[in-house]
Amino acid sequence: MGITYFKRLRMEYDLSGQLFAEPLLAEGYELLPWSEDLLKDHAEVKYKSFRFEMDANVFPNLGARDGCRRLMADIVHRGRFVPQATWLVQYWPQLARRPEICGTIQGMVEETGDGQRLGAVQNVGVTDSHRGRGLGRALLHRSLLGFREAGYTRVFLEVTAQNSGAVRLYQRLGFRQTKVVFKAAEVLDEELAYA
Ligand SMILES: CC(C)(COP(=O)(O)OP(=O)(O)OC[C@H]1O[C@@H](n2cnc3c(N)ncnc32)[C@H](O)[C@@H]1OP(=O)(O)O)[C@@H](O)C(=O)NCCC(=O)NCCS
Repeated sequence: MGITYFKRLRMEYDLSGQLFAEPLLAEGYELLPWSEDLLKDHAEVKYKSFRFEMDANVFPNLGARDGCRRLMADIVHRGRFVPQATWLVQYWPQLARRPEICGTIQGMVEETGDGQRLGAVQNVGVTDSHRGRGLGRALLHRSLLGFREAGYTRVFLEVTAQNSGAVRLYQRLGFRQTKVVFKAAEVLDEELAYA
């Protein structure tokens, strides 16, 4: 094992202007607002979205089902949760007996040293077979609307610099890079080359 540092970009979105357009979801997809009984579904889809991704090296909790449950419980129960900015996507094809949960996003608040309150987007994730259909964009749209309704004017997220698809998506939607931060993580020796 060795310690490596992952470069992360902090990106901000200014909510005072017009929001990017809401994408139309394909048939069968539905966005569900937060409710406590969806906690386990958020944790499960978070796990399925991140388990094979680079961020599971940066944040080992994301690579384990238990870790995602703990993470989700922490997000919801530590007093900084923004339920209006927390959404789930389900896919319910015709004739199927039950829906498949395939996307998640959560909102939190960060208080800065100078007393400002910023919205913080956490862990947007879409499961592999549902990517590239506008669900990431739809989740971000609903989450940003939720932050705005809750009174926030600025929202930020952090993304691993090598996650170029996600970085491009955020840039296209209007997020702007404000800072570079480094996150230390313990990784297997053979994974050091990825950092
Ligand atoms: C990043 C992520 C949420 C995007 O979700 P999505 O539903 O595919 O997003 P959308 O369909 O709205 O947008 C797709 C765009 O995202 C980008 N993208 C990133 N990863 C992608 C992937 N694996 N498959 C398809 N598109 C991807 C592409 O640039 C694509 O752009 P395009 O419209 O020009 O083709 C999703 O790929 C994901 O869950 N990745 C793993 C978890 C992760 O890294 N989350 C980000 C943490 S900061």
